[in-house]
Amino acid sequence: MQTNQKNIILIGFMGVGKTTVGKELARYLGMTFVDLDQAIESEAQQTIVDIFRDEGESGFRLREQKLFLELSEQRGTIISLGGGAFLQEEIQRSSLLTSLVIFLDIDFSIWSERLPLLIKDRPLLQKKSKKEIKELYELRRETYLHAHYTINTERLTPPQTAEKIAKTIQ
Ligand code: S3P
Repeated sequence: MQTNQKNIILIGFMGVGKTTVGKELARYLGMTFVDLDQAIESEAQQTIVDIFRDEGESGFRLREQKLFLELSEQRGTIISLGGGAFLQEEIQRSSLLTSLVIFLDIDFSIWSERLPLLIKDRPLLQKKSKKEIKELYELRRETYLHAHYTINTERLTPPQTAEKIAKTIQ
């Protein structure tokens, strides 16, 4: 597959390292990188936490879908999505059709060690028990597995993950 013509889209649960890996991969492949959440924040001139507070999750999802569809018109771009974006039908359909979708996978028990660091900036993790978060994790994982490629990142640093992705999609 010619990766220079297709966009590469990184998906996975909150805090798996999509942004860090995306930057590494962009460097590795000489492509442009865009983080969808950062693009939403700069367009709205507000943090994600504030958007959730002022507009609710539905307002955030509308922004997410609109901006994703705009950004995905560019070619040769690596886009990292927020953890819920790929759950939106239109985003999922368009990604799978036009881009290479890579799921960054990690076991819940390893991921959950990072949980205390993630809660502050992630409204969807707040006021949930660990059991509820695990259920959300497992449920979403089923959808993430629709990606073209699944990369297990557990024993890899971000540069190693980027290299593995690059070799996998060659
Ligand atoms: C979300 C994930 C976040 C951000 C928002 C909602 C989600 O992005 O888009 O808080 O629904 O999983 P990260 O996956 O980068 O944390």
